Amino acid sequence: LLAQQQPGPLSGRHVLITSGPTHEPLDPVRYIANRSSGKQGHALARAAQALGAHVTLVSGPVTLPDPGGVTLIKVETAQEMLDAVLDALPADMAICAAAVADWRAATEAAQKLKKEDGGNDVSLSLEQNPDILATIAIPGPQRPDLVIGFAAETENVVDNAKAKRRAKGADWIVANDVSHGTGIMGGDATRVHLVTGAGIEDWPSMSKDDMAARLLARA
Ligand code: CTP
Ligand code: CA
Repeated sequence: LLAQQQPGPLSGRHVLITSGPTHEPLDPVRYIANRSSGKQGHALARAAQALGAHVTLVSGPVTLPDPGGVTLIKVETAQEMLDAVLDALPADMAICAAAVADWRAATEAAQKLKKEDGGNDVSLSLEQNPDILATIAIPGPQRPDLVIGFAAETENVVDNAKAKRRAKGADWIVANDVSHGTGIMGGDATRVHLVTGAGIEDWPSMSKDDMAARLLARA
């Protein structure tokens, strides 16, 4: 897990990134999850590494190749992601690009649930997962100097992102419209609005790699 560092503007800095979905088990064979390829989070990890940072990438299950030169911690659930993130602190910068499942099953069945037992009308009892971004952003000695979150929205993109920035205590929110038809979800390109304390920047459509490089350069 020893990550190599190369000289660059982020030399000597620790950048903590979350990526991918989380999987919340219902039983030994089933889970609930968000849609997430991990492409944007992994692109950010590569971009930060290329600028010389020591990168810790905490990733849920993805089918992408492991980025070289970063400390990669693979997790399944939101709780595991939070534990790994807290273990990895302190960091100079944190970027939460993971699509964390908002809920987990209130109880995980030890044995496979049988469909005969549920019939046609099954309901799940869910409880909320911890908010990793909001936890990282809590003021204190461990808080990174720059905390960046994402907001994947399907309507009122910028207004929702502004509200999330305030609610979670993040410095910046990278907002994008993931409505069906935009192709951002799972695709290689993205179009984002950067929401900072100073206002809104509308960035043009670009590859997720280019967005990562631009965000890291800006950071
Ligand atoms: N996030 C997180 N932990 C969670 C939920 C979200 O760290 N349990 C982070 C995401 O990585 C992202 C930001 O919070 O950087 C916004 O995630 P999003 O799902 O858009 O916001 P939520 O607050 O979960 O609101 P909702 O899904 O209801 O829109
Ligand atoms: Ca969510």
